Amino acid sequence: MHPMLKNTANNGQSTVHANSDASSFGQRVAHYRDRIDNCLVHVIPNENTFPEHLHKAMRYSVLGGGKRVRPLLTYACGEVLNLEPVLLDAPAAAVELIHAFSLVHDDLPAMDDDALRRGRATTHVAFDEATAILAGDALQALAFDLLASYPALNDYPQSRIRMMHCLSSAAGSTGMTGGQAQDLMAEGKMLAPDELQLMHERKTGYLIQAAVMMACDASSTLEPEHRDSIHGYADRIGLAFQVCDDILDVESSTKTLGKPQGSDIAANKATYPSVLGMSAAKAHLEQLYEASIAALDSLPFNTEPLRWMADYITRRNH
Ligand code: IPE
Ligand code: IPE
Ligand code: MG
Ligand code: MG
Ligand code: MG
Repeated sequence: MHPMLKNTANNGQSTVHANSDASSFGQRVAHYRDRIDNCLVHVIPNENTFPEHLHKAMRYSVLGGGKRVRPLLTYACGEVLNLEPVLLDAPAAAVELIHAFSLVHDDLPAMDDDALRRGRATTHVAFDEATAILAGDALQALAFDLLASYPALNDYPQSRIRMMHCLSSAAGSTGMTGGQAQDLMAEGKMLAPDELQLMHERKTGYLIQAAVMMACDASSTLEPEHRDSIHGYADRIGLAFQVCDDILDVESSTKTLGKPQGSDIAANKATYPSVLGMSAAKAHLEQLYEASIAALDSLPFNTEPLRWMADYITRRNH
């Protein structure tokens, strides 16, 4: 039995998961949120480390709440694959660090120019613009340093390299950063639906995909066709996440969102509601949800954690 697999009698091929003492992944979400928060608290240099204001801004940007959807996806996929959670802490934290960096830069005056995030002042408002830019830069570097050096992965160099490749390509110019560039270019323009889909996949979908696929990278026994099925899920749910975010920008409230409702409309962004209309955007979200779940059908594992996450991602109100 591979040492990464939990020591269960049926060698990880079970349809009953080792963590199924609680029936639903939803009952373990609070535990995983605590787990990732504890990890993040420890990996970011403390506020007394020089330069203090930079570390303060990094901690402010990461530790001030957030749903932790990306780490939850990593742990959920890890449960499906029967992996030890300790192997998932570094990728789960790394993807959240990249996500937090993307939010800090997304809110800057040169980008979406928003003053509220996670129910409090955005980093450039709470500190200053230069500090916010630098905090984002440093969070990105920290994410890769963590993957490169986290002790739990020392015995699994191939997994480590696969994870670093997965996360760096999801974050870079053909992934999130490229999608953000496209988002800014699209302001005030009417995109075709296929262009909009590509933009959303890049700016948001790929990082969510990476959160799932880095758990696959931690496994050395996953069959290629099973990996493909999980990738199909991750691809659909990654796009669904941004379609839902676009809908919530119109329909939720600033208080519920913890960020300014109507920010997309104010900036004339190309979004699913603005391009397809609200009812078609909602229908598309539902189709993506169904397609994500369907992609899991052929897997010989208990996929409830990933199905729970698909439900959470598409039915959330913030
Ligand atoms: C918001 O992401 C930015 C997008 C990619 C749409 P989240 O909705 O995951 O934000 P937090 O982490 O919960 O604050
Ligand atoms: C953000 O998209 C995607 C990122 C890469 C951060 P949005 O601009 O829609 O995210 P929010 O709505 O500000 O959270
Ligand atoms: Mg944006
Ligand atoms: Mg924004
Ligand atoms: Mg948005």
